Amino acid sequence: MLVHIKELFEQSVRGKFAYPAFNTMNLEITRGIIAAAEELNTPIILETSEGAIKYAGLETIFEVMATMAIKAKVPIALHMDHGKDVDQLRQGIELGYSSVMIDHSGEDLDKNIKNTKELVQFAHKEGAWVQGEIGRIRGSEDWVSVSDRESLLTEPEEAKSFWEATGVDTLACSVGTIHGIIKMTGEAEAKVDIDRIQRIAELVPVPLVLHGASGVPDDVIHQAIKAGISIINIDTELRIGFTKNLRAALLEHPDEVDPRKYLSPAIAGVTEAAKAKLMAFKTINQVN
Ligand code: G3H
Ligand code: 13P
Ligand code: ZN
Repeated sequence: MLVHIKELFEQSVRGKFAYPAFNTMNLEITRGIIAAAEELNTPIILETSEGAIKYAGLETIFEVMATMAIKAKVPIALHMDHGKDVDQLRQGIELGYSSVMIDHSGEDLDKNIKNTKELVQFAHKEGAWVQGEIGRIRGSEDWVSVSDRESLLTEPEEAKSFWEATGVDTLACSVGTIHGIIKMTGEAEAKVDIDRIQRIAELVPVPLVLHGASGVPDDVIHQAIKAGISIINIDTELRIGFTKNLRAALLEHPDEVDPRKYLSPAIAGVTEAAKAKLMAFKTINQVN
């Protein structure tokens, strides 16, 4: 069933559980994710980046997600991920995303606060939630020295002022993870600063979001949840699950020209990858 993100947080999950926010870009990945959530009976967040929207079209990908979410057996909330384009964020809110992320973390702090606050005012009038970002979560484009890397991390006091000044409903923090595949290939090392999560959680009461969580070991995920993370963004591991099975199917059947024949195993690859994450997130209560 399609739900507003706020319904997922009617009761606090902090310290006990985190909702997975899975990135999608097409019908196949969306199907694979929802199959995993249904099999494990877990509510999820489905999200689209600006790149995914450029690839699939805003209305098209929104309708794909919404139609499938309505029919799903588990609660699903729709979120727009890493939005830089404010016009598109407003369009997304008007279309029906119950949550959007404004990522102006690359701007200077005052501008990030100003732009985020303006979007929050618009979103709240429309009944939507906004996720802001303070600190900068690295990606493959951010090749920086160790000292610079430290400076990109979220300062707990600054996170508190940002939350107070903007009124964001959820907050993405930079705590050492990196976007994309590079930390899984050995090109870069992601080190999650659990103590920093805890210090931010002590000062900021809204759900905290861990980005770039693909490849983070399960025990670290558990520590992050215990420390106060309530939403965990996963994209790369789903892409790997999809591509691995697609490549194998094409190699095994080089003459096959019916896309349904080789996309079905690719969908199953997404389901398998999403289930592995869902199981890791769920075991936190058993670990506590
Ligand atoms: O956090 C970023 C997501 O993995 C989206 O990546 O911009 O390549 O769609 P993308
Ligand atoms: P990964 O690609 O590392 O899973 O990060 C996903 C993400 O943070 C989406 O916002
Ligand atoms: Zn992210």
